[in-house]
Amino acid sequence: MAQDAIALLEADHQRVESLFSEFKSAGGDRDAKLHLAQIICMELTLHSMVEEEIFYPAFAHATGDQQLVEHALKEHQHVKELIANVPSAQNLDGAIEALQRHVLHHVEEERRGMFVKAKSCGMELATLGGRIQTRRAEVAATVQAA
Ligand SMILES: [Fe+2]
Ligand SMILES: [Fe+2]
Repeated sequence: MAQDAIALLEADHQRVESLFSEFKSAGGDRDAKLHLAQIICMELTLHSMVEEEIFYPAFAHATGDQQLVEHALKEHQHVKELIANVPSAQNLDGAIEALQRHVLHHVEEERRGMFVKAKSCGMELATLGGRIQTRRAEVAATVQAA
């Protein structure tokens, strides 16, 4: 059975939060940090993609709250710019820290704002969850094949 869309997105948030902690505790292990940085960027890219393609439009449709969606998209844009800086960063710790700060801020806003509103407006969260899982699996397969 498909999981509720919000539960899925929250699971992503938590996974990324623990990856950020792992990065921090990797200390001076540069290879481990590079590897973790790659996973963090990939997870965030996938997560933003399913939100932008599936969850945000459904939310805008259900609530008519275009403003909240536009604000979230602006934050995604900033996160994408920070992700783009990671591969060439002279200071990997600083690049990941900046990314973490911005991501945690955005996640907190989704939690307190959009997700609370989504739960109370009768959105088809299970159906959306199914679509999110399918889309994620599709894209993960092409990433692995590349
Ligand atoms: Fe988001
Ligand atoms: Fe999110």
